[in-house]
Amino acid sequence: MYIVALNGSPNKSGNCQFLIDTILEDCKANGAVTETINAHSVIMTAKWPYCADCKPKCEGKCYAGTALETAFEKLAKADAIIIASPVYFGNVTSQLKAFWDKMRLYRGKKTFIGKPVGFISCGASRFGGQEETIRAMQTMALIQGMTVVNSGDSEFDCGHLGVSAQSPSIDDQFAITRCHSMANRLLTEIKDR
Ligand SMILES: Cc1cc2nc3c(=O)[nH]c(=O)nc-3n(C[C@H](O)[C@H](O)[C@H](O)COP(=O)(O)O)c2cc1C
Repeated sequence: MYIVALNGSPNKSGNCQFLIDTILEDCKANGAVTETINAHSVIMTAKWPYCADCKPKCEGKCYAGTALETAFEKLAKADAIIIASPVYFGNVTSQLKAFWDKMRLYRGKKTFIGKPVGFISCGASRFGGQEETIRAMQTMALIQGMTVVNSGDSEFDCGHLGVSAQSPSIDDQFAITRCHSMANRLLTEIKDR
């Protein structure tokens, strides 16, 4: 089992990363190989960081041979994916959106159809837009044909949209519990295939 997390936060050891690590630790304990990609770091290796719609059909030329292409290949190989974003003005970070916009080539190749993906968002406020941020990520994933999952698991409950947290996430016990149920859910999705 290979599980890859994509962190949309520029903070490599911030609140989102703590929640990602909580899920990945459970996955590793169940035999999975795991990895985290930091969107901010890899997007900067492309010729320019945003999709400039240079050709009607994307050929991936602006990131060929870069760490961004390697990141896409890792996501393509993953059995399951986790996507995390801090809430920035009620939505995903520009870094995460810029990363996603560069994936048009893979949409054409149908690479991600059916791949299970779960979501995390963390905001400074208790009701700061976490669920809207998760919804935005779910929409992005659905347009790649991915299978959107939540943290619903038979050992816990049906779950809601994903893991919604308030910073400091290390103190958000509810969100931490949801991380454990999301790990179970993703592992179940992989094993059931
Ligand atoms: C540009 C910017 C916009 C933000 N907007 C919101 C917001 O709308 N709602 C909220 O609850 N927190 C907001 N925050 C706070 C972050 O979501 C919060 O600090 C989060 O925990 C950061 O996660 P990280 O440590 O993984 O980077 C914002 C932070 C920044 C830098």
